Amino acid sequence: MSAVSPVRGVGGLAAHAVQADTTDPAADVQRWTRLLLLASASGGDAFSEHCAAFPFAAVVDHVRRFGKTAVSPWLPTTLEYAHRALHQCARGFGAGLDAGTPGGVLDRWLPLTFDLHRDAVSYDSYIGNPLLESVDGGTAAVDGLITALVADLAGHEARERSRTAGSGQQKRTRAALRALLRVREVAPYATNAVAAGTEADEPDSAVAAAVLAARTLEATPRSVAQVVTLTMLPMTALHDEVMFVRTVQILDRLFAVLAAAAREADKALAERDVRAAAALLDSAAGRVEGTAPLLRLLATMPAEVFAVLRMTTEGSSAIQSRSFRDFETTAAALDPALLPAADRDRIHRSMARLQGAWQAFKRTHWGIAVKLVGSAAGTGGTSGARYLRERVDRPLFPLLPGSAR
Ligand code: HEM
Repeated sequence: MSAVSPVRGVGGLAAHAVQADTTDPAADVQRWTRLLLLASASGGDAFSEHCAAFPFAAVVDHVRRFGKTAVSPWLPTTLEYAHRALHQCARGFGAGLDAGTPGGVLDRWLPLTFDLHRDAVSYDSYIGNPLLESVDGGTAAVDGLITALVADLAGHEARERSRTAGSGQQKRTRAALRALLRVREVAPYATNAVAAGTEADEPDSAVAAAVLAARTLEATPRSVAQVVTLTMLPMTALHDEVMFVRTVQILDRLFAVLAAAAREADKALAERDVRAAAALLDSAAGRVEGTAPLLRLLATMPAEVFAVLRMTTEGSSAIQSRSFRDFETTAAALDPALLPAADRDRIHRSMARLQGAWQAFKRTHWGIAVKLVGSAAGTGGTSGARYLRERVDRPLFPLLPGSAR
């Protein structure tokens, strides 16, 4: 078990990795499991309280300190046993494991902690989708989650800035602050986005990012903040991986919102409601256009660090993103010809704007892939950047006149 890696990213090892604490949370997990089994055997009725009392912080801190690839050797089996006990005791208590309940959170989260040990790492388990997807109370709730994820990322980069003097980290922190300042463009319906005050002009972007991130997270519902905390289970102790995982999580949730908007727009077109359909597509375009600061932040990833991340995440690629596929598939079916001829100009403009924004997003992603992986194959089994290049100009809306290739 070692937190030492020969590769240093923008800021090298994450702050968690250089803390002095070397405790092993396996004993805490074992104690928790024993208490749960005892309570279940004695016919107690405090299942939710037991679940909420799980030593989450100790496990998350340990994984963030070492990375899943180097955790204490006993931890994964202990967590797996705790998961089995959870199911057994839920039956004993006659309790459910529904999303949002303490038992449901634990049930969705525990498998994410031992996926590597089980040789079951996937895109979904790597980014914590079972938990992220449990925040599904409509667009405002998902926007709130996206906002909290961006805030957590900005706070992370602010902390790293105070530890690292390098110009790379300075640039990274400034990019993270900008992403947080513009988060309303990506997530306009969030209620936890905090209006930036004078601190946004703060010459030290780390201070501004830290203040704004803390205020945003304070305004975030506790259940959502817990999802944000629990879904940072990196493979390594490298600080750049935190930035990478958060960016993937933010964009994956954005794709889910875009897919929902495309479905709504499809319905509006079928109902010949041009105003509703255009508003949905314009709002979606604004969101995609608003990703520019996030992509600039992603582009600060050093190639040598990404090479390490690729090795530890082999077989799990964002090509497996269901929300990305869902958006593209739903959008491809949108047919403006359902509208009376007089209304089509209006919808064509909105479709063209969203299509242009989506192609620009994909072009930037391709550019990042060229810079970071060159001509190497992708982790999803494709030809890598070449595969992405072929897909950049594909029309999002093949039924939009003039789009088909
Ligand atoms: C360090 C930055 C990144 C690099 C170098 C990179 C590289 C790649 C490569 C090479 C592929 C080809 C598929 C394969 O894996 O075989 C790919 C696909 C993909 N990536 Fe990324 N990626 C990066 C970040 C992201 C992020 C943050 C997201 C957000 C979710 C993302 C979303 C996707 C999606 C959705 C695909 C599938 C595209 C399609 O099938 O058209 N990527 N990426």
